[in-house]
Amino acid sequence: MLNIIIIAAGIGKRMNSNIPKSLHKLAGRYFLDHILESAEALKPSSINIVVGYGAEQIKSIYKHKTYINFIIQKNQMGTGHAVQQAIQYLSEKESKENLTLILYGDVPLIKIETLKILINNCSEGIAILTNMINDSRGYGHIIRDKDDRVLDIIEDEDSSEIQHKIQEINTGILVASTPKLKYWLSQLNNNNKKREYYLTDIIPLAIKDDVFINTYKLNSNWEGLGVNTKIQQVQLERLWQKQQAYNQIKKGVTIIDPERFDLRGKLYCGQEVFIDINCIFEGDVHLGDNTYIGPNCILKNVHVESGSIVDAYSHLQEAYLCKDVRVGPFSRLRPKVELGQKSCIGSFVEIKNSKIGDRTKTNHLSYIGDAYIGNDVNIGAGTITCNYDGINKSNTIIEDKAFIGSNSQLIAPIRVGQNATIAAGTVLTKDAPREQLTIARTKQISIKNWNKLRKKHTN
Ligand code: UD1
Ligand code: CA
Repeated sequence: MLNIIIIAAGIGKRMNSNIPKSLHKLAGRYFLDHILESAEALKPSSINIVVGYGAEQIKSIYKHKTYINFIIQKNQMGTGHAVQQAIQYLSEKESKENLTLILYGDVPLIKIETLKILINNCSEGIAILTNMINDSRGYGHIIRDKDDRVLDIIEDEDSSEIQHKIQEINTGILVASTPKLKYWLSQLNNNNKKREYYLTDIIPLAIKDDVFINTYKLNSNWEGLGVNTKIQQVQLERLWQKQQAYNQIKKGVTIIDPERFDLRGKLYCGQEVFIDINCIFEGDVHLGDNTYIGPNCILKNVHVESGSIVDAYSHLQEAYLCKDVRVGPFSRLRPKVELGQKSCIGSFVEIKNSKIGDRTKTNHLSYIGDAYIGNDVNIGAGTITCNYDGINKSNTIIEDKAFIGSNSQLIAPIRVGQNATIAAGTVLTKDAPREQLTIARTKQISIKNWNKLRKKHTN
């Protein structure tokens, strides 16, 4: 039986923010989202989150996860006190399998594999996760004897000059036998500089009970880093993003600069994918074989089939691009757009809730909204589907092989028939029949001998 307790009651004073610390974000997701992903993957018998500051906010965000037990810690009196609040609800049954894993709401990137190793190391009653880091200020330092056995964890505030320099630090994450943990917690006191009940003080209590402190030591690893300040948050964000970039590069993706890559969701890439600098990927993004994403693009929940190009400065949200499509530079695809094979969407074109057929082109300066456009259509520069009358949204249908001249306005609801030609500058208010030229603009006239105003010349 594995119980998980996540302690997340603190405000995180050092963040200088009103948001509860565990609701700050990393890679676009709450710290708690990351932690819960790892916690859930362990399939524990219970997940308990200790909340305090911002409790209602946290509870409402996760109300759909009905299996989570929320425990209130009214006053934040320390990490040990936080765990005490939750442990009272857990079974005291003495068995090797009755374990509790403690996770910290501000150590967001802990990996499932690491937690599994820690749990397997816990046969003797307790296992703690440590990390070797260069700058260990602010962390609890691991005190070992000459035989390398852990004796204690001393918080930075409480440590001596020599202890300050110890680079092995406490990540906060530990696994312990539930009944033993309960017993040790009941003996905590707050005789320290912060006047808090430290979870870390269970270490000497365990040793007093002749329990060996197992450790699993990470080597300068980002996954064990905690966030106390905004600086640490952005540093961890960059470390994590670089890691994600390298994961893709290892699989064969070309990412021109891993320092300028941001993934805030999941990215699935085929073979020979090329990603230029400063792109942001959000939600679920699929990039097929031989796809190219130019610099400074944002793709959110987008599917790009093989051979397609998204050129520089394009912003795509909830779009499906079939094979060999060309989008950009400077294109905007708003939700629910489907682009047929070999279609082209050019610069300063905005499309929303529309289906664009195979080989259809809309290359410059257009707005296409709520439209169904067939195959082999050409949409001239400056074409606008006037889909909104102030109250209702209406559809535009353009059938195969139609040609829409530049600067046309199509007042929806409207239909342009197959192979129809719409003359440039037309304001189309009635359906245009197939095969014909439809023109609606003032007839051009030229006036001879007209009286042009001339500037008077003064000498
Ligand atoms: C803690 C550890 C330190 C470790 C570091 C790793 C203790 C005493 N210290 O220090 O050894 O190196 O984490 O990141 O455990 N919390 C509550 N209720 C409270 C106090 C804290 O829920 O009363 C929660 C916070 O919301 C946070 C977590 O516990 O998610 C850690 O608290 P924090 O104050 O950040 O501890 P550190 O000083 O970082
Ligand atoms: Ca912390």
